[in-house]
Amino acid sequence: GKDGYRHFMEKELHEHPVAIGQTLQRIIDPVTRRIALPDMPFDASTLSRATITACGSAFYAGMVGRYWLEELARLPVDIDVASELRYRNPPQPDKGLALLISQSGETADTLGVLRELKTAGQSIVSILNVEHSTMGRESDLVLGMVAGPEISVASTKAFTAQLAVLAALTIDFARQRNLLDEKRERELTDNLLDLPSHAMEVLGLFDQIRTMARVIAQARDVLYLGRGICMPVAQEGALKLKEISYIHAEAYAAGELKHGPISLIDPSVPVVAIAPSTILFDKTLSNLQEARARGGRILVFTDEKGAERLKDIAEHMVILPDVSAFVAPILYTIPVQILAYEVALLKGTDVDQPRNLAKSVTVE
Ligand code: M6R
Repeated sequence: GKDGYRHFMEKELHEHPVAIGQTLQRIIDPVTRRIALPDMPFDASTLSRATITACGSAFYAGMVGRYWLEELARLPVDIDVASELRYRNPPQPDKGLALLISQSGETADTLGVLRELKTAGQSIVSILNVEHSTMGRESDLVLGMVAGPEISVASTKAFTAQLAVLAALTIDFARQRNLLDEKRERELTDNLLDLPSHAMEVLGLFDQIRTMARVIAQARDVLYLGRGICMPVAQEGALKLKEISYIHAEAYAAGELKHGPISLIDPSVPVVAIAPSTILFDKTLSNLQEARARGGRILVFTDEKGAERLKDIAEHMVILPDVSAFVAPILYTIPVQILAYEVALLKGTDVDQPRNLAKSVTVE
C-alpha cells in the first residue's frame, strides 16, 4: 500500500535514503568499508571501452555514469538510448563491456541491445532493480540495485539506486586501473556512505520546493539547465516534469543556451538550474546571468556557497547540503523529482498513472 502517502510517487520519493542505503550496503564491505563487487567476467584493468545503454530515466543515470567512468576510471564510454544503439551497429571492441541499466529488466529496446551485444561477444553486465527479470536471466552478471518495488510510473528511487551502483562501479574500476590511492578511495566511498543522511535532509525541503513549483505550474514551457555531471540531472528533471505534469520541458547543457534556446527566454519560460558549487559553477552562473538579463525567471538548486553568488538573480533557491561534486548528481536528483511531483499536485494530474504511459515498456 501507500503507507499513508497520497501517491506511490510520494512514498517512493521518501524511500530515496533507504534505497541508496540498502544498495550501498550490498556493495560496500561493512568491515573494511571498501567497495566489494562480485568478480567481473572481464578484466577491468585492461578494458578499452564500455558501452552503456538504457531508456528514459535509466539512460540519464547512464549519462552520469559516463562522466564518472571517464573522469575517474579513465574508461572511454559509448552511450546511447537503447532504441538507437540497437540499430546503429557500432564497432565493438574485442571482449568489451556492455553495461545495461533498467529498473524493470523487461524494457524491450534495452533487452534487444542486450541480445545484440551478447551476440557481438560483449560481456553483459546489467544494473537492475528486478533481478529475476528477463534481462537478469540473460546477463553475464547482474549488479542489483536494492530499491524495493517501484510502483509509480515515474521512476524515482530506482534512479538514485542506479547511480549508487554506477558510482561504486567507478570506484572499483578506478582502483583496478591503479588510478586511486587508498586515501582518495576512502574519501569517495565515505561520500557515498554519507548520502542517505543527506537525502533525509533533502526530504525536509518539500515546502521550499512547493514555492518553486507554483512558478512552474503557471508555465507552458520550462527550461532545465545543468553542466557536466549535473546535465543529466537537468534531463531527468525535464523528463519527470513532462511525464506527470504535462508541461513541456527541455533540458540543455547550460553552455548550449547561447547556441539557440536563449531565444525562448522571457518571463513566461522559467529556467530551472542544477547548480552545486563545483568547479563549473562560475560558468553556469554566467549562463544564468544571461538568462536573467533577458527577463528569465531563475529557479535554482544549489548549496550555501552557490546561493551567496546567486542571490541577486535567482527568484527562488532551494539550498541543499554541501556535498562533493562526485555525489552531487545523486543528491540533486531528489529535489528535482520532488519539484515535478509538487507541480503535478498543483495541476491535479493523475500522478501515479500519467496518461499514455506504462510502467514497463515491453514493446518497441
Ligand atoms: O524499467 P526501465 O528502467 O528499463 O524503464 C526505462 C524507462 O521506461 C523509464 O525510466 C521511464 O523513462 C520512466 N517512466 C521515467 O520516469
